[in-house]
Amino acid sequence: MKLIKVADYNEMSRIAADYVIERIHRNPQIKLGMPTGDTPRGLYRELIADHEKNGTSFKEVQTFNLDEYIGLSGQDPQSYRYYMDIFLFDHIDIDKKNTHLPKGDAEDAFAEAEAYEKLIQDSGNVDLQILGMGGNGHIGFNEPGTPFDSMAHVVELTLATRNANAKFFGSLESVPKRAITMGIATIMGSKEILMLVSGAGKSEAVSRLLEGPIEEAFPASVLRMHPHATIIADKAALSLC
Ligand code: GLP
Repeated sequence: MKLIKVADYNEMSRIAADYVIERIHRNPQIKLGMPTGDTPRGLYRELIADHEKNGTSFKEVQTFNLDEYIGLSGQDPQSYRYYMDIFLFDHIDIDKKNTHLPKGDAEDAFAEAEAYEKLIQDSGNVDLQILGMGGNGHIGFNEPGTPFDSMAHVVELTLATRNANAKFFGSLESVPKRAITMGIATIMGSKEILMLVSGAGKSEAVSRLLEGPIEEAFPASVLRMHPHATIIADKAALSLC
């Protein structure tokens, strides 16, 4: 796993944007895997700025988000579909029909997870998967203990993850209890992985990621087995390494 050390959140976001833009220029039909949360907001801002300033086009780009909450429709301001629209898709020239997320309001969440996996596999898999990391090492919504060979599936969120995401909902009670997520094997099937980590709050997780054992108890550790994984981490996130 290649490590790129940066000073702070802004530098992480800029370098990540350069990385993604370079890949788009190389392959305008690239399939990008997209994360949500606070971490990629700066990257998305930089992508919008580059689209406006330099005309980088997303017309033929396809996106596959990592996960979605069960029970929320795409119009719900807390849904990841809504997040992607307001923080990225509405500001670039991407064709919305090329943007994919699991449907949180699907009648049968299990069937939806299966269909989402099939969609990804049928597309030939993600070229560049961008990732954030939860404080407990989760990637997407793959919580500690998720089998490394898991495909897209329905997941019960841990209290730790629901607490961490309560900041977006106003209260813990409003955070959904279940989600659909790409599996660990889905994520590992992408050709390239770019993980972004920022802030002291992630420092323990980063040191475990870089120096701890590769184990299902710490999902992000699986990335060390990927042939083309890069992590961009800032000083604060690396403070325990
Ligand atoms: C959520 C998302 C993850 C994300 C994580 C970290 O649980 N499902 O994909 O990586 O939060 O979020 P943040 O970037 O806000 O720390």
